[in-house]
Amino acid sequence: MTIEAVRLIGPGVDRVDGPLKVTGTATYPGDFSYPDMAHAVLVRATVAAGRIRGVRTAAAEGAPGVLAVITHRNAPHLNRGPDTPFWRQPPPPLQDDRILHFGQYVGVVVAETAEQAHAAGHLLDVDYEAAEPLLELDDPRAEVVTDPWGMDAHRGDVAAGLAAADSTVDAIYTTPDETNNPMGLFATVAVWDGDSLTVHDSSQWPEGVRATLAAAFGVPESGIRVLVPFVGGGFGAGLRVWPHVVLTALAARTIRRPVKLVLTRPEMFTGVGHRTRTIQRIRLGADRSGRLTALSHEARDSIAVEDDNFEPVATDSAWAYACPNADVQDVQARLNIPLPTSMRAPGQAQGNFALESAMDELSYAIGMDPLELRLRNYAEEQPQLGLPFSSKGLRACFEQGAERFGWSARDPRPGSMRDGSWQIGYGMAGVSFFWFQPPCQARASLRADGTALVGSAATDIGTGTYTVMTQLSAELLGLPLDQVQFSLGDTNLPSAAPEGGSGLTMALGSAVHSACRGVIQAFLDTVADDPASPLRGCRLEDVTAEDGRIQLSHGPARGEAYADILARHSLAELTADGSSAPPKPEDVGMVPAGAFAAQFAEVRVDPDLGLVRVARIVSAVDGGRILNEKTATSQIIGGTVGGIGMALLEETVTDPTGRIANATLGDYLVPVNADIPSLEVLFVGEPDRFNPIGVKGVGEVGLVGIAAAIANAVFHATGRRIRSLPITLDKLL
Ligand code: MOS
Repeated sequence: MTIEAVRLIGPGVDRVDGPLKVTGTATYPGDFSYPDMAHAVLVRATVAAGRIRGVRTAAAEGAPGVLAVITHRNAPHLNRGPDTPFWRQPPPPLQDDRILHFGQYVGVVVAETAEQAHAAGHLLDVDYEAAEPLLELDDPRAEVVTDPWGMDAHRGDVAAGLAAADSTVDAIYTTPDETNNPMGLFATVAVWDGDSLTVHDSSQWPEGVRATLAAAFGVPESGIRVLVPFVGGGFGAGLRVWPHVVLTALAARTIRRPVKLVLTRPEMFTGVGHRTRTIQRIRLGADRSGRLTALSHEARDSIAVEDDNFEPVATDSAWAYACPNADVQDVQARLNIPLPTSMRAPGQAQGNFALESAMDELSYAIGMDPLELRLRNYAEEQPQLGLPFSSKGLRACFEQGAERFGWSARDPRPGSMRDGSWQIGYGMAGVSFFWFQPPCQARASLRADGTALVGSAATDIGTGTYTVMTQLSAELLGLPLDQVQFSLGDTNLPSAAPEGGSGLTMALGSAVHSACRGVIQAFLDTVADDPASPLRGCRLEDVTAEDGRIQLSHGPARGEAYADILARHSLAELTADGSSAPPKPEDVGMVPAGAFAAQFAEVRVDPDLGLVRVARIVSAVDGGRILNEKTATSQIIGGTVGGIGMALLEETVTDPTGRIANATLGDYLVPVNADIPSLEVLFVGEPDRFNPIGVKGVGEVGLVGIAAAIANAVFHATGRRIRSLPITLDKLL
């Protein structure tokens, strides 16, 4: 059964956790404190490669309030976290004297107060034998990782397709390192009780934290509880379990007291991942009618030494357009860089910039409107697999987005549109976002007072999970919104998927659907032979839930309230576990579709100053069924702001020694309100067929096309093609 969105789904309700957040009573990881709690501070390597020659700890150990100083010389053996199908865990910290990247932890200082720990941290004297770090993507000495997960794709004959083309594009695009920078500084609080451990952590995946800490210390997972009721943003930074989390638990185990650790902003640049820089070559060929004859996307990005968090950049180009001949290939160079991670729209943010810039270049090469070129090459089915998509509303995105934007008013000639001294440009990009849905579980209970408790060990990183899962549960159980409480962020709850890859709403929503249907089934089972019940003998397919009762779909007068059934059977509650695991595409004859989008940007360029201002952006999105237009719109707007940052501002700068040179929010530029123009969002999708609630994830799609749309608009405004992000004024002068 699929839900019929009628009451609570759609236009949107306010965030159920909004009042807690605006009154400052939502508890973020760093807000938790315990009696007798001590504070840990990290000491980081000041070189990017080499060895620790010596460590002098006496001064730090003798400083006021210091309880412990832990370095590689006295740290115990720690095991690496287990491999998972999702994000891989970094190597454990403080295991030897090697330095693999700038900012690597070389010590932890634990003291009575955070201030004492910081002061003592400066007294830890580490002597390095520095080596020359590998820092450049194209350094021939760097070991190269080639397609470890088999995601490269090939079809047809690209060389023949290029040879047969009437027009071709062959260009190199680059994107810089970028840092996730959630506002909330990541924090961990660890409390041991024997071999049991309670942890508060800034995480998008509490179960990953539990599994990694259990492995690190060789203790059972069942004794570890990870609590993450709120996170101050993640953008991917919370997907992996970082060394500082392990070190906080180690500090607490060492001094046998609770320990809190809060990262500093500079530590957020080296300790919780980043989006890696890329060099990408795109080759396109098309015939005179604009049909693609060849598409080749080769991407190179970086990976840390001894890391295996592969993240493909080019792979989605294989299925973005109908083209008989395609090659996509990803390689990664091992460098002495801090460990990367997913950053909002992992891989695709970088890959789409290259592909959609190249499509724009091709449109000029053949003299065709950029939007028309996309429509000419529309992939009705998934071209790599030859199967239909579970849904695809990209054509509606193109058409309705163009209309809302006023694309038809665009003069196709570059440099032709002006407003006084400002050059005006219109640019656009298409987005075909990947699909990702890990298995997930949830539990639902209906209680004698008529309220429901639904929960899962998932997180809400600001995306609206609390809110949409409350709505969905209330809808499925036929209860008013305020009669449902949704719990998350606790590993004692049923096993949950990571909040990542735009997959949680599909995964968790499907599990909640299963659990809520299971509860209704439990009520039907309870009254199956109950002569007093009007529902006796009824099947799940025949009933709906409305107004706190179960009733026949085709005769709503026949039904009974949950509370009445529980009372008559002397039950306090009925509970059901639900789970979701997506089917294999082959088994259902379709390819599960992620979100699609078309994004349109108007920019204004001051040619004398090289200044680019974004005037407006329209995003038309196929996100399947939208559970809450208000929070979904916020997701697209937030993604768009991230895209504007990527296009014009963001760049993590590494100096020739491997040090991050701009590791503060004063030096690493992100958009502020004055950079953000009118952002319009329209949802054009239909319910998807691949999951029972018809949803697709919208957490990342809003970012993906923005950099290309802006770069394409800058070309239209100025005739200058900028293939290297960010588009700073020096590149336009
Ligand atoms: Mo997202 S980068 O998968 O949190």
